[in-house]
Amino acid sequence: MVDLHAHILPGVDDGSGSMGESLQMARLAAESGVRAMAVTPHCNIPDTFDNYDGEEFRKKFAAFQEEVKKEGIPLELFIGMEVYARDNLVELIRGRKLIPLNDGRYLLIEFPFNEDGDWMTFLLNVVLEKGYVPLVAHPERYYSVQADPGLAYAWVCMGCALQVNKGSILGSFGRKARQTATLLLEHELAACVASDAHHAEYRTPHMARVEEYLRQTFGESCVQLLLWGNPARILNGDRIILPEPRGFQRRW
Ligand SMILES: [Fe+2]
Repeated sequence: MVDLHAHILPGVDDGSGSMGESLQMARLAAESGVRAMAVTPHCNIPDTFDNYDGEEFRKKFAAFQEEVKKEGIPLELFIGMEVYARDNLVELIRGRKLIPLNDGRYLLIEFPFNEDGDWMTFLLNVVLEKGYVPLVAHPERYYSVQADPGLAYAWVCMGCALQVNKGSILGSFGRKARQTATLLLEHELAACVASDAHHAEYRTPHMARVEEYLRQTFGESCVQLLLWGNPARILNGDRIILPEPRGFQRRW
């Protein structure tokens, strides 16, 4: 599998607290069948986590990559960040402070959970206008999407990609997040599913359970698309694929 969302870089956000924990997380991911992972610390959260692009950030990433290699863990790591979108977004893009996934075209974007839907749409348009493709982190957790899933559909139509969380699908973030995640999957609007892992004991990067759930519920093609194909395309900067509608006869 390819996991595009993990707070596995040690000591930079509310994810892993130490190199030991990060290596444990990397082992868990690899054991569960994850072969590639984007390292995505929170960035731009006011008064909490900065983590902007720069020599210091890239050194920390390279050091972790080196440790994983030294330990012989079969997990390929790619640079990235989870960008907290707010009114300074244009300034940050212009100043080259943000790192897209694998330094490519897709920017992993998050919002405050109670953010206004129109404002989110505006900021996603700003990202598109600047030439990046927003990969919206866990849309199913935002209250405005839970209240109006049509918002997520509009984002896909605009050209955004949606990343659903493992924990939302399995029910760790409550009934509404689970219902909304299921709705996005049933309507084939999700581009990929990721761990959003924070720790080695809970909110882990182990993906076997969600893989099995997706296989049982939506079939092998869903597993191949959301856990392998699309996340790999995103890392390569290629276009994602949404499934062909099933049971629907084209009339043109
Ligand atoms: Fe996250």
